[in-house]
Order: sequence, then structure tokens, then C-alpha cells
Amino acid sequence: MRSTTNSEDANTTRFNGCLSAIEPKFLTADTEASGVAMVTAAFRTPAKEVIIEGRTYQADEWMNTPSAILEALPRRLHLQPDHPLTITRKLIESRFPDYKTHNDLFPIVTTAQNFDSLGFPLDHIGRSRADTYYLNQSTVLRTHTSAHQADTFRKNESEGYLISADVYRRDAIDRSHYPVFHQMEGARTWDRQQAEREGKILAQIIWDDVTKIPKHDIAVEDPNPTFHAERNPLQAGHSPEEADAMAAHLKRSLEDMVVTIFNAAKGASDTATPDEPLKVRWVEAYFPFTSPSWELEVFWQGDWLEVLGSGIVSQPILNHASVPNRIGWAFGLGLERIAMLLYSIPDIRLFWSKDKRFLSQFHEHEPIRPFVPFSKYPACFKDVSFWLRTSSSSSSSAAGGATPIHPPAQQQTQSSSIPPPASSSTMPIPPAAAAPAAATPAFHENDVMEIAREVGGDLVEDVRLTDEFVHPKTGRRSLCYRVNYRSLERTLTNEETNEMHDRLRGLLVDRLGVQLR
Ligand code: PHE
Repeated sequence: MRSTTNSEDANTTRFNGCLSAIEPKFLTADTEASGVAMVTAAFRTPAKEVIIEGRTYQADEWMNTPSAILEALPRRLHLQPDHPLTITRKLIESRFPDYKTHNDLFPIVTTAQNFDSLGFPLDHIGRSRADTYYLNQSTVLRTHTSAHQADTFRKNESEGYLISADVYRRDAIDRSHYPVFHQMEGARTWDRQQAEREGKILAQIIWDDVTKIPKHDIAVEDPNPTFHAERNPLQAGHSPEEADAMAAHLKRSLEDMVVTIFNAAKGASDTATPDEPLKVRWVEAYFPFTSPSWELEVFWQGDWLEVLGSGIVSQPILNHASVPNRIGWAFGLGLERIAMLLYSIPDIRLFWSKDKRFLSQFHEHEPIRPFVPFSKYPACFKDVSFWLRTSSSSSSSAAGGATPIHPPAQQQTQSSSIPPPASSSTMPIPPAAAAPAAATPAFHENDVMEIAREVGGDLVEDVRLTDEFVHPKTGRRSLCYRVNYRSLERTLTNEETNEMHDRLRGLLVDRLGVQLR
């Protein structure tokens, strides 16, 4: 069986290797402050116990989470004072003053929370080990803030809530994708019984609430009806009037938030045309846990940019959370994406920087000013070409000889939760697109990405497939990847780049069974 699970020693080595290459002095501070040393220590023991911030997890053959990812858990960037993600979070929160905020929910959740509670089918691609970090078969690093929806509805503490949190996905490597990023989720619900007790019609109460949302004067394209029998269905238990009212409340609330952000971004941006009026549009979407569903796009610097996913909460989620009388809407957005355009931050890795030249540029109580790159250090490209295993050496390869290639999920679908341009989500793929959920030994591009991260950490800027062909006689498939090594903080030496690339080549052979060319 192909293994994406890293050995204990490899994990430990990699963590020390890549982080210390960037900034050794912070390693010690972080390790001490966070208790992550325990993780590293736990990984050295054969017991396969993973201890994270005092909680113990029993790893099994589903474990595919490298220690460098576990090291990111305690960072909680969205809570760091004056961090651009914190400032962005607070800016959004300021538009929802009555919503209860939950900003420190623990990142390790059960598959029941992350998937089952939201109605993900068992064969949904989002459950795949190629896309999701597992500690064991029923424990994952949350892939989205929606993992906390059901629990938050069950608590029933407030009509509206906002959850901001770090989320984790195995994904491509480029300047807008990082395996850890931050989302904000929001929801607003209403109580039918309360309406009855007050002798009111719920749809009317919701419309009254719509009038309380601040007005804006931007152009909104919203050509579709609230629901559509095939494309975007009304749920069985909802009346058309209720759905219309909830959709209006959702759309006005989120438009208000987006107007605030993009006006702030416009003030900051040096490239935006100051007189270009802001335009937004609502697009029909699909999520397993909302119906009808929409994405909100904003016309930004010449392109339509996806900003968030949203919809009317699936009633079974509320019913199972013991609040069957409540109905409502939810949204989710990626904080990095918003912060990148708010501050013109060109590379998602910068959010993880501990370099003062980055961090000192952001101040909560000052007007937003574009980020000034402190220097562009040279990049170093290296190619690696290899033959994939053939059917005889791979248990699951396709008939006909060549091993099937699974591109990262981000190339299969679009979503709001990760920054542009190649934004992605494992979530909004309809079940029909699903692949077998458990470990598949077929080649998956995300495994190349994981190995690149393992050898280079944040020194890998970009990994992309540059060539691919099938040998006409043997049917063997050859791939060529170009790896772009660049530090955001210093110039890399030739020697260290070569060393990283050699390790990458070796690990591709060891882990994926490829043959180098
Ligand atoms: N969880 C979705 C994602 O990660 C976003 C979303 C949240 C969509 C809530 C609808 C409602 O892409």
C-alpha cells in the first residue's frame, strides 16, 4: 500500500529541519509556549499516541498529519494582536454587533462533526485522506468552520453567531494556497414557536429584521429566483415566504459586510481605480448542508472574485441539534482571501511570518494601508520528472496500464474559502463527483505537495505540473513538476536548495514508488 503517513522520525526531522532553516530562535519560543514539544516527543515513541495541547489521540493507519502541520495548531493567527487576520476578523465582526463570537474552538474534531452532522455522504471526496488530515479514522483536523455548526446550534445561546478558526486541508502549493488557513462562519436563526406565541407570522418578523440592516447603494446582480426545483431547491419544511425572507436577510447582511470591507480595501489599494463603482453578484451554488445555496462574488480589479458561500441551513441539522423550531441561514468565508486584498498581501505564506518587517506594518486602530513588500528575494526553480508506477506495481491503477492521476480538489471545483486566484474547497462538490473515501493507493498530486512541504516548509513557493505524457508503446505515464523555492525573508543558498530538492526526489521514490527520469 502506498503510504502518505510519515514515519515518526521523518516527522520530527522535518519539523526541526524546515522551521529552523527559517528562523531558529522562534522554534524554541513556540515549542515552549505551546506544549507542542509533547507532540514531537509523542511522535518519537512507537505508541503512536499524539498529544496535542494536553489532549491524547490514538493514531491509526489513517494518520496522515505531518508534525509541521501539528506545529501550526497553537499559532491561532486570527487571535494575534495586530495581525492582519485579526484585524480582518474584527472588521467583519463589527458589522454583526449582536452576533455571539466563538474564536477559540479546538481544531481537532470528529468526522461526525466535520462531515456526518452536515449531511456529507460517506463517499464524498472531502472525506478522502488525499484531501483531509486525519489523526485516526474518526478524528480529523477540521477542514472548515462548519464542523462547529451543529454544536453551536445545540447550545442555542444566541440568534446569531460568528465562528473564526484555523482550518486544515491537503492542497496545492502556490501563493494563494496553504494547508492551514482561516475561515469565518456565521449564522442567524429565528424561532417559529416564539413567533406563534407572539401571534406573529415568522416571515414577517424576518422581514422586520431585514429593515434593521444598514442600507447600501452598490449595484447587486441577483438574477435567479430564491429557489429553483432542480438547481437550488426549497426545503420541505420551509414555506416560500419564509425562504424569501431568510434569503433577503442573508443577502442584505452579507452585502453590508462586503461593502464595508471592499470600501476599506479600495481606500488602501494603490492599484484599484478609485472611481470604479463596487459591483457584487449572487450566484447559485451547492453545499451538502444548505439549500438553497449561493456564493457572493465581487468585481475586484477587473475580475469576479468569489468571496463567500452561504445558504439556508439544512433543517435536519437544526432538528438533530434539538432546535427543530428554529430556521435560518449560514455563510462561510476565507479570512486570508479577504485580508490579501484588503492589504494587497501577495503571498499567503506571509501570514505565518514572524519577521518584524511584516508584522510591524499592521495596526488595529489605524486606517488600512497596503502592505509594502520588504524585499523580493530570488526564486530558484528546480524540475523533477518521473514515471508513475504501472498497473503491475500498483494495486489500484486503471485498466490500460497508466496509474490514474488525482489532481488536487482545488482544480476540480471553485469555492470561497481559500484566497484567489485558484480558490478551492473540498466541500461544495456534489456527491456524484465523489471518489472512494478511504485510502486509495493511486497517485494523488496532493501527495507530491505534502512531500514538498515536508522538505521545504515555507521555502516552497509554488509546485506545478509542467509536463505530462504517456509513452506510446509502454503506456507508462511521465510527469514533470517544477518546484519554485524562495524564502520571503532571505536569499537561499544554492547548496540548501539542491539539498532540499534531492530530498524531495528521494521521498518521491520512497513514498510514491515513482521512478525518476
Ligand atoms: N463550509 C463551506 C466551505 O468551506 C462554506 C459555507 C459555510 C457554505 C456555511 C455555506 C454555509 O467552503
